[in-house]
Amino acid sequence: MTTQVKKICCLGAGYVGGPTCAVIAYKCHDIDVTIVDLNESRIAAWNSDHLPIYEPGLDKIVFERRGKNLFFTTQVEQSVLEADLIFVSVNTPTKKSGLGAGFAADLAYVESATRQIADVAKSSKIVVEKSTVPCRTAESMRTILEANSNENIRFDILSNPEFLAEGTAINDLLNPDRVLIGGLQTPEGMKAQQALVEVYAHWVPTDRIITTNLWSSELSKLAANALLAQRISSINALSAICEATGADIDEVAYACGRDTRIGPKFLKASVGFGGSCFQKDILNLVYLSEQLNLPEVAAYWKQVVDLNEYQKKRFVSRVIKTLFNTITNKKIAIFGFAFKKDTGDTRESAAITLCKDFIQENAKVRIYDPKVTTEQIFLDLSEPGVVDNTKQLKNRVTIAKSAYEASEDADAIVITTEWDEFKVSIELDYQKIYDQMHKPAFIFDGRLILDAEKLRNIGFRVHTIGRAEA
Ligand code: UDX
Ligand code: UDX
Ligand code: ADP
Repeated sequence: MTTQVKKICCLGAGYVGGPTCAVIAYKCHDIDVTIVDLNESRIAAWNSDHLPIYEPGLDKIVFERRGKNLFFTTQVEQSVLEADLIFVSVNTPTKKSGLGAGFAADLAYVESATRQIADVAKSSKIVVEKSTVPCRTAESMRTILEANSNENIRFDILSNPEFLAEGTAINDLLNPDRVLIGGLQTPEGMKAQQALVEVYAHWVPTDRIITTNLWSSELSKLAANALLAQRISSINALSAICEATGADIDEVAYACGRDTRIGPKFLKASVGFGGSCFQKDILNLVYLSEQLNLPEVAAYWKQVVDLNEYQKKRFVSRVIKTLFNTITNKKIAIFGFAFKKDTGDTRESAAITLCKDFIQENAKVRIYDPKVTTEQIFLDLSEPGVVDNTKQLKNRVTIAKSAYEASEDADAIVITTEWDEFKVSIELDYQKIYDQMHKPAFIFDGRLILDAEKLRNIGFRVHTIGRAEA
């Protein structure tokens, strides 16, 4: 007989834990789901009218189930005590110092969450690794938990990586391409695996629920993100060739993507990928390869990240070169600061690198993003180690409340995030923008979202990634 999960606890109320568990509560009314976090203000926000993360469709689901079978609390002990199944969905940032600094994941939060479970549990638990972690982390978690188990309490470890993308999280969770559940291939491990399968089977067709061994599951998460990021770096590398030759990257991507063996997705050239996962997971893979004494493999994947840095630098150089080789005291309007549209998240956003480079060149930067807060922008642009350079930054950086305000008196507009509202003729009146800019008025499209012809007819000088100068 399989174990039936009745109470779920999730450690970590972030971008992964919050939406995932909200959707489980929404689809499984017979399961109580409690999401806990050490961060009190984050939990207070989850319990308020203003959720701590912006994600289309999330509000509705949370408001519908909160207080019924979905709870947010800082009471870690109580929630762990009562749960049959615990998701560990805490942060795993890249290590800043020590062994593997800059590459390896910092597993301190995962370890402390695991120890917490071991300390508190008074009955058997299924512990599910949900955070993206290096391959074989489950093994460490298992060692900690097993050292604390006895004949009355056993811990079964599962790996259930999350594949949701920000901005489309709710749809990704409601209609996943697949759900992946890794477990030890022992009778107990497979029983635990089956218990989690049954949770997802409330709404996911069973042929989309894949069960594998623990290590395949862990590696698949890193591999999937590495393969996706690799497609972007591949298309971005080709975009450089297009700019130099007169081929058009959108046409090339379309022509290649029509080959069903290649497929059309994740071939959009850009100013560089961002987000909390791609870079971190590839660097994890690089570190793992080095640890396994596979330097050629490490170098192969590292190149995906290196090309991403190159793409950002290349774009900055194009802006400077076009603006007559100097941007000192020129006003540059930055359209978008989030790492992609429909999210307020800025982690590893290409806009951060671009703005820092423009500031270094003494430009005046005016930023508009529909969802990112002013505090977050200044936090991202501050240099680590400098106690408070906000004051200095404020001489160079201002935040605008609209695209119109950002582009007033500007010498150039740089599109860094593909928000729909920046598209020509959807919302923005580019004639009005053109009229209020310095002339010649430049626009640099780092996301290939603009109709360059229309803008040229207005009078703009348009530069697009992956296209030669017109
Ligand atoms: C290729 C392209 O597929 C085709 O579109 C182009 O016109 C010519 O080059 P071809 O070389 O005939 O065609 O065969 P293909 O099926 O692509 O295989 C090429 C090599 O890759 C073979 O050695 C094949 O064994 C290998 N391969 C292919 C793999 O190792 N793994 C795969 O998943 C696919
Ligand atoms: C990614 C994976 O898609 C998801 O499966 C995993 O769980 C977490 O990491 P996310 O980082 O939220 O999700 O967003 P994604 O849509 O993958 O975009 C990542 C970055 O790549 C963004 O900066 C985006 O703008 C960029 N991108 C994406 C491109 O530049 N071109 C593309 O074609 C697609
Ligand atoms: P992700 O994008 O992976 O969801 P976030 O950083 O958004 O990452 O969220 C991780 C959350 O986990 C943070 O809010 C952090 O406070 C929380 N957290 C870290 N350690 C613990 C722990 N031991 N117990 C509960 N929550 C934790």
